[in-house]
Amino acid sequence: MSQRIAVIPGDGIGPEVATAAVEVLDAAAERHGLDLDFVWFDLGAEKYLREGVTLPQATFEDLRDHYDAIFLGALGDPRVPDMAHAKDILLGLRFRLDLFINERPVKLLHPDLTPIKGKGPEHLDFVIFRENTEGLYVGIGGNFKKDTPDEIAINEMINTRKGTERILRAGFEHARAQGKRRLCMVDKANVLTYAHGLWQRVFREIAAEYPEIESRHLYADVAAMELVRAPEDFDVIVTSNMFGDILSDLAAQLVGGIGLASSGNIHPGRVSLFEPVHGSAPPLAGKDVANPLAMVLTGAQMLGFLGHREAEADLERAVREAIATRRVTRDLGGELGTRAAGAALIALLERA
Ligand SMILES: NC(=O)c1ccc[n+]([C@@H]2O[C@H](COP(=O)([O-])OP(=O)(O)OC[C@H]3O[C@@H](n4cnc5c(N)ncnc54)[C@H](O)[C@@H]3O)[C@@H](O)[C@H]2O)c1
Repeated sequence: MSQRIAVIPGDGIGPEVATAAVEVLDAAAERHGLDLDFVWFDLGAEKYLREGVTLPQATFEDLRDHYDAIFLGALGDPRVPDMAHAKDILLGLRFRLDLFINERPVKLLHPDLTPIKGKGPEHLDFVIFRENTEGLYVGIGGNFKKDTPDEIAINEMINTRKGTERILRAGFEHARAQGKRRLCMVDKANVLTYAHGLWQRVFREIAAEYPEIESRHLYADVAAMELVRAPEDFDVIVTSNMFGDILSDLAAQLVGGIGLASSGNIHPGRVSLFEPVHGSAPPLAGKDVANPLAMVLTGAQMLGFLGHREAEADLERAVREAIATRRVTRDLGGELGTRAAGAALIALLERA
C-alpha cells in the first residue's frame, strides 16, 4: 500500500531544498521498492499575502486524516514580519496534531565537520528527545502595566505528569528499540523545584521499567559542558522544551551545523511532521545555492519513522559519501548548486 506524504515547501529556500530532496527520496524509494506518494501543498507566505489564508481547517483535517507524514521545507518571509502564517502552520500543526516528541539526531557524518578537537564519528552519535508541547512554549502569560517603569511580564511554564511521562517513555522506548545503552534526562530540578521535581519523580518511576538501560540525569548547565567535553557519553537525551531547544542547536553545531541538521515532530502512530532545523534563509532564496542535505537527512529520518530503516541508512551513506568527496554546496566547502548537489546524491545512491 502506498504511503502518502504531504510536502509543504514553504518560503525562501524551502521550495528549492524540498524539490531536490523529494527527487532524492524518489530515487531511494525506487531502489528499495517503496511506494511513496508525494502530494504538494501550497501553504506559506505567498498564499497568506495573496489570499489571507494560513492553514484552512479543511486542509488541516486533510493532513490529519489522509497522510502518513508531512515534509516541511521552511517558513519565514520578511514580508510577514509577525510570522502569522508560520505560527498557524508550524506551531498549529505541532500543537493540534499533538506532536509531543521533537527528535533531533546528532551524528557526525565526516570527521572534518566537528569543531571539537580529538573527536570523531565514533564519539558523536546520539539523539535528543525534546518535549514539544508543554514547558515555556504554551503561550500562557501576560504583561501588567505594560510600557511603564512598573511593568511586569510573565510567561507560565506548564509541566503535566502525562506530558512528562510520555516524552520520557518515548526516549526509553527509542533506546530499547535502537539498542542504545544509556539515557540521560536533562533538567534543572535544583532551581525549578516544583516543575522539574515532577520530571525527577516520573523519571525514577519510568527508568525502573527499563533496567537494561543505564539512566542518569544532568542539570542543563552541566549538560551543556558535558556535550562538548565528552559527547561520547550520550546515547539518548530526554529533556524539556526550552532546554531541548537550546541544547539541540548546540549539539547540531558539534556535527556540522545548520546545513545538516534534521528534525522530526512526532506522535508515534500518528501523522508526524519532519523539517530541517534551518529557516527559510531569504538572502539565499532563488539562487540555487542552498544546501539540500539537511532536507535530505530529514527525509531519511522520515523514511525511518515510516518503517524504512534500510532506505534511511542508504540515504545517510550517500550523504556521507557526498561530503567525503566534496560533492556538496559551498557552505560545506564544495562548489555545487542546490540542484547539482541533489543530482550528485542520486548518482551516489544508484552507484552502490
Ligand atoms: N522551522 C522553520 O521553518 C524556521 C526555523 C528557523 C528560522 N525560520 C525563519 O527563517 C527566516 C530566516 O531566519 P534566520 O536567518 O534566522 O535562520 P536561517 O536558518 O534561515 O539562516 C541562518 C543562517 O544559515 C544559513 N542557512 C540556512 N539554511 C541554509 C541552507 N540550507 N544552506 C546554506 N545555508 C543555510 C543562512 O544563509 C543564514 O546565514 C526567518 O523568517 C525565521 O523566522 C524558520
